[in-house]
Amino acid sequence: MPAVPIAAPTIEPGLQPGPDSGLRSAEPSYGGPVRVAFVGKGGAGKSSIAGVFARLLARDGAQVLALDSDPMPGLAYSLGVPNRETGIPAEAVEEYEDDSGRRRHRLRAGLDAGAAIELYSTVSPDGVRLLQLGKTRGVKGENSLSHQGYQAILDALQKQRSAEPDSTGSLADWAVVGDLPGGTRQPFFGWGRFARTILVVVEPTPASLLSGRRLARLAEKASAPHVVAIANKTREEADADLVQARTGLQVIGEVPFDPAQREADRRGVALLDLDSDSPMVAAVTRLVSTLSAKEPVR
Ligand SMILES: Nc1ncnc2c1ncn2[C@@H]1O[C@H](COP(=O)(O)OP(=O)(O)O)[C@@H](O)[C@H]1O
Ligand SMILES: [Mg+2]
Repeated sequence: MPAVPIAAPTIEPGLQPGPDSGLRSAEPSYGGPVRVAFVGKGGAGKSSIAGVFARLLARDGAQVLALDSDPMPGLAYSLGVPNRETGIPAEAVEEYEDDSGRRRHRLRAGLDAGAAIELYSTVSPDGVRLLQLGKTRGVKGENSLSHQGYQAILDALQKQRSAEPDSTGSLADWAVVGDLPGGTRQPFFGWGRFARTILVVVEPTPASLLSGRRLARLAEKASAPHVVAIANKTREEADADLVQARTGLQVIGEVPFDPAQREADRRGVALLDLDSDSPMVAAVTRLVSTLSAKEPVR
């Protein structure tokens, strides 16, 4: 088999990693609250980082919606909320026929996406609103209605992303942090369609690097939003460079391997509630300021 050429990392001018990042000299393209989606191989650290990220953003004063699109539980734990179902209930969704007679679904009359978020999410410490897709179970019809309701919220957020104001305007102020299932096409075209920036979480391990590379390739082909990498569980200085070289993605943040995160996981509590001075919290704090300073708009 011919060797697969590894593209040299492309670094956009003005989008350099680091706490005092050159982002500030980038084109002033930021126009709204942070909207990010975490993707990557299972176990890479998406949920752990997303939970800390969402709460720190909320501490900064943002109104934060955390979206858990992964049927495997994770985000509720890292946010520190009881892991109960927080999906959209079936009664919030109605069926209708579009112009061509196709059956479609939408939030019921009188319920806009912003109101649905307020009604059906769970509030975490620091005031993050968590909405979960929820697992696929129960009466088939009911479950799919709930999923249709979740999709309706993603649709409304996507409309908003393209700077067309949501018809009600109720979503404009929400920052959104998505925890997406690992996978191939879906992150970019499906679950991540609300995001302005997709953050690919990559460990400096061969399997994780390969997954990161595949996701980067997909991002190239797609009219995907801005896609960058986060090197997670780094143990030495060369690790972030390795992630950048092997994925071809620009690494905008580095999160060190942090035993406190392991301990939080073992106890089933949020890292922020266990040790808010830990190295991982410090690293995610830098990530929040990097992205808040200039999140590119597409
Ligand atoms: N920076 C880190 N340092 C130490 N452990 C980490 C770090 N990030 C994640 N972990 C651990 O790695 C495992 C997988 O993390 P998780 O966030 O559940 O991954 P994902 O959501 O991508 O599947 C968990 O045990 C978590 O505690
Ligand atoms: Mg997870």
